[in-house]
Amino acid sequence: MLIPPPLSLYIHIPWCVRKCPYCDFNSHNQPQTLPVEEYLAALTADLEQDLPLVWGRTVHSVFFGGGTPSLFPPDAIGRILDAASARLRFAPGAEITMECNPGTAEHGRFEHYLAAGVNRLSFGVQSFDDGCLQRLGRIHDSGEAEYAVKLAQDAGYDNINLDLMYALPEQTLAMALHDVERAIALAPTHLSHYQLTLEPNTVFAAKPPTGLPADDDAWDMQERCIARMADAGFAQYEVSAYAQPGRQCAHNLNYWRFGDYLGIGAGAHGKISSGASGDILRRWKVKNPREYLAAAASEARIGGDDPIAVDSRAFDYMLNTLRLVEGFSLADFEVRTGLPRATLDKRLDHARFMGWLERSGDRVVPTELGRRFTNDVVSLFLPD
Ligand SMILES: C[S@@+](CC[C@H](N)C(=O)[O-])C[C@H]1O[C@@H](n2cnc3c(N)ncnc32)[C@H](O)[C@@H]1O
Ligand code: SF4
Repeated sequence: MLIPPPLSLYIHIPWCVRKCPYCDFNSHNQPQTLPVEEYLAALTADLEQDLPLVWGRTVHSVFFGGGTPSLFPPDAIGRILDAASARLRFAPGAEITMECNPGTAEHGRFEHYLAAGVNRLSFGVQSFDDGCLQRLGRIHDSGEAEYAVKLAQDAGYDNINLDLMYALPEQTLAMALHDVERAIALAPTHLSHYQLTLEPNTVFAAKPPTGLPADDDAWDMQERCIARMADAGFAQYEVSAYAQPGRQCAHNLNYWRFGDYLGIGAGAHGKISSGASGDILRRWKVKNPREYLAAAASEARIGGDDPIAVDSRAFDYMLNTLRLVEGFSLADFEVRTGLPRATLDKRLDHARFMGWLERSGDRVVPTELGRRFTNDVVSLFLPD
C-alpha cells in the first residue's frame, strides 16, 4: 500500500543578475525591472490551483531556489511565505531555506529575511579564488563572499550552507583544498561540494574552458576534500552534501528519500503521491518566465503531468535513495512506491554480488564501490 511521505514546498525564482556560462538551471538574465508583484501574484495563483493535490497535508520544509531568490527583497519573500502558510499547514519549526548569490547580499537585508521566516541560507560561493571565480563568470569575488556570510551570521543566521565547485578550469589540488579550508573557516553548518560538469546547452558545453583537470585529478580533489571536511566535522551524507551533526538539509533529504514536493514557479518540478489512488504524479510548470507569468492563473501553467508508471517506480526510488550514504530500508521502499519488496530480490542479489550494495536486516546501503559507480548501480533497477 502506498502511504504519502512527508511533503515539501519548492518555490522557483528564475532570474539572476547575469547567467553563468556553466549553469543549466532555469535561470535568466534579469529584466531591467524585476516583475516582483506580478510574480508574487503568479506564485499564489499557481499554488492555489495545486492545492487539491495535497489537501490536509503538512509542509515540512520550504526551499526558495533559483535562479537567485535573493534578488527578491525580504518583504516579497515574506509575502510569498505568508501566502503559502495561509493555504498550507506548516510543521512547527519547518526548515525554510533561501539560495543567495553573494553578489546580491545588500547590507541590512539578512535580518529582514530572518524576520520574514527564512531560517536557513545557502550561498553560491563556488570558490574563494578570484581567478577561478572570474573564469566561472561569477559576479562576486572572494571578499564579497566572506563578507556576505559574516553579515548573515551577524544578523542571526546559525544554519548556513556554502556551495563550492571543484575540478574548475586551471584549478590544482592545492587550490581545491584551499577553497574547502576557507569555507570551513567561516563556520557554516553545511557544505555542498559539486564537481563542475559541462551541461548541454550551456556556454561551457559549446566552448569548453581550457585547463580543466583530468578525471583522475578531479577524483583526487574529491577524496582529499572529503577527508578535510570530515576532519572538520562535516560528514558526507549524499554524493555532494556534507553536514555538521544534525544539520543535514531537511528539504533535500526529503527529495533523496523519495519524499513528496509541490513545485511552484517557472519551470518548478513537483512529485506528489496519492494514498487514495495509489498514483505518483510528477508535474512541472512552464519554464519561460514570461510565459509562466501569462499562464499562472490557468491550466496552461502546467508544462507537463507524468504519472510514474508502476514498473518505473523502483528505478525512480533508487535514483534518489542510492545517492544517500544511509541508503534505504525495504519497509520504506514498500510504503513509498506501493510495491512489494520481493520486486527487488533479483536485482539486489546482483548488486550485492558486484560489491555495490550491502544488506543488514531491513536496510540496504551502498558500499564505497557502489557510491563510486552510482549510475551503474541505479541502472540495474531500470524497468525490463
Ligand atoms: C541554483 S544555484 C545556487 C544559488 C545561486 N544561483 C548562485 O549560483 O549563487 C545551485 C548550485 O549548483 C551548482 N552548479 C550549478 N551549475 C553547475 C555545474 N554545471 N556543475 C556543478 N555544479 C553546478 C553551483 O554550486 C550553484 O551554487
Ligand atoms: S549558477 Fe546561480 S547565479 Fe549562476 S546562472 Fe546559475 S542560478 Fe544564476
